[in-house]
Amino acid sequence: MLSLLRPLLAVCLYLLLPGAQGRFPGYSNGFHYQDISNGNGNGNGNGEIYFNGIRLHVESPQSSVSATRGSSVTLPCHYHYEPELTTPRRTRVKWSWLPANTVTAPASPEALARETEVMVAMGNRHRSYGSFQGRVRLRRSAPGDMSLVINELQLNDTGRYRCEVIDGLEDESVTVELELRGVVFPYYSQKGRYHFNFFGAQQACQDQDATLATFEQLFAAWEEGLDWCNAGWLADGTVQYPITVPRDGCGGVDLAPGLRSYGQRHRLLHNYDAFCFSASVKGTVYFLMHPTRLNFTEAVQACASDGSQIAKVGQLYAAWRLMGLDRCDAGWLADESVRYPITKARANCGPPEPGVRSFGFPPLYLKFGVYCYRLLF
Ligand SMILES: *[C@@H]1O[C@H](CO)[C@@H](O)[C@H](O)[C@H]1NC(C)=O
Ligand SMILES: *[C@@H]1O[C@H](CO)[C@@H](O)[C@H](O)[C@H]1NC(C)=O
Repeated sequence: MLSLLRPLLAVCLYLLLPGAQGRFPGYSNGFHYQDISNGNGNGNGNGEIYFNGIRLHVESPQSSVSATRGSSVTLPCHYHYEPELTTPRRTRVKWSWLPANTVTAPASPEALARETEVMVAMGNRHRSYGSFQGRVRLRRSAPGDMSLVINELQLNDTGRYRCEVIDGLEDESVTVELELRGVVFPYYSQKGRYHFNFFGAQQACQDQDATLATFEQLFAAWEEGLDWCNAGWLADGTVQYPITVPRDGCGGVDLAPGLRSYGQRHRLLHNYDAFCFSASVKGTVYFLMHPTRLNFTEAVQACASDGSQIAKVGQLYAAWRLMGLDRCDAGWLADESVRYPITKARANCGPPEPGVRSFGFPPLYLKFGVYCYRLLF
């Protein structure tokens, strides 16, 4: 090891000599060295050297990774030098993040400016930031492995992550998209259609254990067949709706299928529905076995007596989509709506496609079943 380091030390010492300007006449090992220790006084200059003729490569075998909420995910990132180095180098690694709901064109200067730091590491020292503190580490399973491991994934961790390797003057990066497996559902207020401003929509999704959907999430849902002729807020502050079968009143028959967008709307003054995104829940959603039908008050009580809570709409959607919950019985949910989940469409259980069927918000004295949510398995 020491013998490997010796040539590097010699170079460093040379650079510290007064008058040394990074010229190495007669020094011929095939590489040209250049001093960057002078003149930038920001701490990255303690004898760092920069190799001309050596290239730093940063790569990721996956440009996007999909994971489930609450789980751990690894965003791959590796670097190596070409040609391979015989001496170890001091590299810094920075992972930063552009949240999925950021309103900018990808890779635009604004987008880059909005990236926030997730973790920086140098040698064995590292530091994580914000909501990632205590949840992230570098995998380091092999030399050059700078893959980021994120634990306890949250709904709002989606977005574009940048792995940046900084070695003296060289600075290379790759990006990895993180998506969560989940389901998008349209949501409207108990007061009726188009009652949410942006912040109301945000709150409504949160109340249903969900978050406002991103454009990418709504687009993926549209690709999978979501057709909904009411406009809803998305996380980026735009208002859109997904149409698979063009028709009058939904953008007209002359428009191709796709997302119909009203663009950015005024977040306080304009009212629409919401598109929420829900991902797998820790725990289980079930239809409560109960001898009688229940009004809403009784339904809340019955789940409590069963050691659980009345389920939220996002939890029912996640159970339907990700766990295959299928039940042809209408049940109360926490927001005072009545719904039931069908994965295998059949006679007397609603339309011929799978879906979560809704009875809207019936009077609270009417009697139905109830869906409960229990955190423990
Ligand atoms: C993401 O969600 C978590 C938990 O729901 C919350 O504590 C955190 O503040 C959110 N982070 C951002 C950046 O919105
Ligand atoms: C539900 O029924 C109970 C009686 O079992 C009654 O006390 C309660 O007021 C009813 N709730 C509603 C919302 O009608």
